Amino acid sequence: MDVVTLPGQRAGGKVWLVGAGPGDVELLTLKAYWILKSADVVLFDALVSDEIMSLVPQDAEKIAVGKRAGKHSAAQDEINQLLVTKGFTRKNVVRLKGGDPFIFGRGGEELQSLVEAGLEFEVVPGITAASGTSAYAGIPLTHRDYAQGVSFITGHCQLESRPMDWKGYANPNNTLVIYMGILNAGIIKSGLMEAGRSADTPVAIVSKATTAQQKRFIGTLGELDLLASDPELKMPALMIIGEVVELADTLNWFEPKAESEPLTIGVELKDRR
Ligand SMILES: C[S@@+](CC[C@H](N)C(=O)[O-])C[C@H]1O[C@@H](n2cnc3c(N)ncnc32)[C@H](O)[C@@H]1O
Repeated sequence: MDVVTLPGQRAGGKVWLVGAGPGDVELLTLKAYWILKSADVVLFDALVSDEIMSLVPQDAEKIAVGKRAGKHSAAQDEINQLLVTKGFTRKNVVRLKGGDPFIFGRGGEELQSLVEAGLEFEVVPGITAASGTSAYAGIPLTHRDYAQGVSFITGHCQLESRPMDWKGYANPNNTLVIYMGILNAGIIKSGLMEAGRSADTPVAIVSKATTAQQKRFIGTLGELDLLASDPELKMPALMIIGEVVELADTLNWFEPKAESEPLTIGVELKDRR
C-alpha cells in the first residue's frame, strides 16, 4: 500500500468526513482521492459508486452503511456510534458520502457525535448533486436573464412535523433544486402552484446525473408528477424548477453512453494534449 502523508494529518490517524461527488469518478477532489488512497477504514453510503470504492486500498476495511446489496440501511444512531468506535482505533477512518457531506448528508450530525467523543476530524467538501446535475444537464442554476437566486431544498417532505414553506419558494426569479423529491412530485407540484408558481414554469428531472446513464426529463411544473412517474426514470434523481430550464436544449453538451460504456471525458482531454 502507498504511504501518503495527508495535509493536516497527525500521528495516530483521525476521522475524515469526505464528499464523493455526484457520480462521475473524475469529479472527486484531489484531496478526497489522496485520503481514500491511504484509508484504513471506509464507511460508505449507497450513493458512492463502485468505481470510487475501487480507489480504496484492498486491505482497508470497507463498511457499507447505506442500502446496498439488498441490505437495509443502518439507522443514523448506529452509524454515529460505529464512527466513534472506529475513530477510537486511531486509524485513518473515512466517512464517505455522496455529493457534499454537509448538503442533505447528515454530515453535521455525525460530526457532533465525534465532538462529544473528543475525536479529531476534518471535512472534505464534494461536488453536490445540484452542481453536478446543473453542469452535466446544461442548466445553469442562475443566469442574469432568468434567475437571480437558487434554493436547495429537500422534497422528502416531513409534512406533519415540518410543513414546507411553499410561499417562500414561489418567486419566479428563483431556481429551485429539489433533492429526494421524486416520490412527492404531486405534493411539490400542487404546493408550488397553490403558492403562485405558474403551471408553465419549466422543470427538469435528471436521473443518475454525471454518470454514463444520465437521463433528462423536461417539461413544465403542471406535468411534474407525470415526468416523475416515467418508467425510464431511475434513482437517484434531482428536480430543477425555474426559467433556467429553458436553456437545457441550447446548452446540452453531455452525451451519456450506453449502459456498459464508461465515461471518458478525462481521457478525451488527455488525448487532446
Ligand atoms: C440524501 S441526498 C444526498 C445529497 C448529497 N449529500 C449531495 O450533496 O449531493 C440524496 C439525493 O441527492 C440527489 N442525488 C444524488 N446524486 C445524484 C445524481 N447523481 N443524480 C441525480 N440526483 C442525485 C437525489 O435527489 C437523491 O435523492
